[in-house]
Amino acid sequence: MSLFVILGLLVCIQAQGIIVTPVFVLKGRDLLLKFDADLPEEFDFVDWKFNKTVTLVRFEPSGEPIVHENSTGRLEFPEKNFSVTLKNLQEADSGLYAAEAFTFTGDKLVAEYKVTVQGPVTPVELIVDRVDSNSSESCDLHVTCRTHNSNISSTFRCVDRVCSQEGGERSEVTTSGASLQVYLLNSTIICNHSNQVHWTHDFNTTEHFCPEHPGTTERENYFLITVFAFQPFSVLKNLLCVF
Ligand SMILES: *[C@@H]1O[C@H](CO)[C@@H](O)[C@H](O)[C@H]1NC(C)=O
Ligand SMILES: *[C@@H]1O[C@H](CO)[C@@H](O)[C@H](O)[C@H]1NC(C)=O
Ligand SMILES: *[C@@H]1O[C@H](CO)[C@@H](O)[C@H](O)[C@H]1NC(C)=O
Ligand SMILES: *[C@@H]1O[C@H](CO)[C@@H](O)[C@H](O)[C@H]1NC(C)=O
Ligand SMILES: *[C@@H]1O[C@H](CO)[C@@H](O)[C@H](O)[C@H]1NC(C)=O
Ligand SMILES: *[C@@H]1O[C@H](CO)[C@@H](O)[C@H](O)[C@H]1NC(C)=O
Ligand SMILES: *[C@@H]1O[C@H](CO)[C@@H](O)[C@H](O)[C@H]1NC(C)=O
Ligand SMILES: *[C@@H]1O[C@H](CO)[C@@H](O)[C@H](O)[C@H]1NC(C)=O
Repeated sequence: MSLFVILGLLVCIQAQGIIVTPVFVLKGRDLLLKFDADLPEEFDFVDWKFNKTVTLVRFEPSGEPIVHENSTGRLEFPEKNFSVTLKNLQEADSGLYAAEAFTFTGDKLVAEYKVTVQGPVTPVELIVDRVDSNSSESCDLHVTCRTHNSNISSTFRCVDRVCSQEGGERSEVTTSGASLQVYLLNSTIICNHSNQVHWTHDFNTTEHFCPEHPGTTERENYFLITVFAFQPFSVLKNLLCVF
């Protein structure tokens, strides 16, 4: 058998398989599991199963649903078209939802969803731990992004008003599986706490902590001293100008 035939067979097998659709849902929301596959010409019924074992509902060929008693109140049927709405989803409802059609030649998988239910993420706080500015042009900002159970720190260096993040954008996966990021967007430092369905953020600007013209005051002083030293007679005039 040539390689092409083998490849062809593999493609055929793939084409017959059902693509599992990943879905992320916010806890408490409803989710429509759409059924838009082609059904076999003749079938006895269609079952929606959870994690391959628990039957949630059985549809007759007419589209009439027979709900398993364990699922009553948790399912709705917007149309008699084999689609199912899962109500008020909780984390424990995460798993594989599959529709199977039963025919006299065997079962056929016709739709499959991998559902992940996530709660909202907690607020995040941007804290400026320390500002180091020991030269007139440069300023180091040490910040921490903190949530109830995690934190991430980063340093921003501003030289002549141009700021950059030491080591680039930082991100971390928290113990609850969310992502905590800290990055610079123009002159705004952003903390972002996010999962697939929800995010919170906090921000502040580098200008707030690193003065816009860090060298200006020192240069002005220097200028005044020069004026005092070399133009003693116009001291009064200069003072009048300054104040
Ligand atoms: C079944 O009904 C739902 C809800 O109205 C709709 O979104 C879906 O497209 C329908 N499916 C088909 C195959 O018509
Ligand atoms: C229905 O729920 C009962 C009690 O929670 C459980 O013992 C039983 O196994 C469930 N049946 C199915 C088919 O899930
Ligand atoms: C369903 O399967 C998923 C993995 O696909 C697993 O994480 C989850 O605990 C299972 N849920 C139940 C109630 O068995
Ligand atoms: C402050 O001075 C130290 C020692 O010279 C240097 O390592 C550090 O980078 C300086 N910090 C800033 C913000 O210029
Ligand atoms: C930051 O996280 C570390 C562990 O990654 C922890 O040891 C530390 O106490 C946390 N700090 C704050 C202020 O939450
Ligand atoms: C950042 O700055 C660039 C150029 O100055 C501008 O085009 C862009 O809109 C700014 N982005 C935000 C989010 O302010
Ligand atoms: C935070 O991250 C989420 C997910 O990546 C994204 O959708 C959202 O736009 C981000 N928010 C900000 C303020 O950058
Ligand atoms: C930035 O930080 C300063 C000082 O902590 C605070 O007063 C100000 O409200 C913050 N700005 C924003 C946009 O959060």
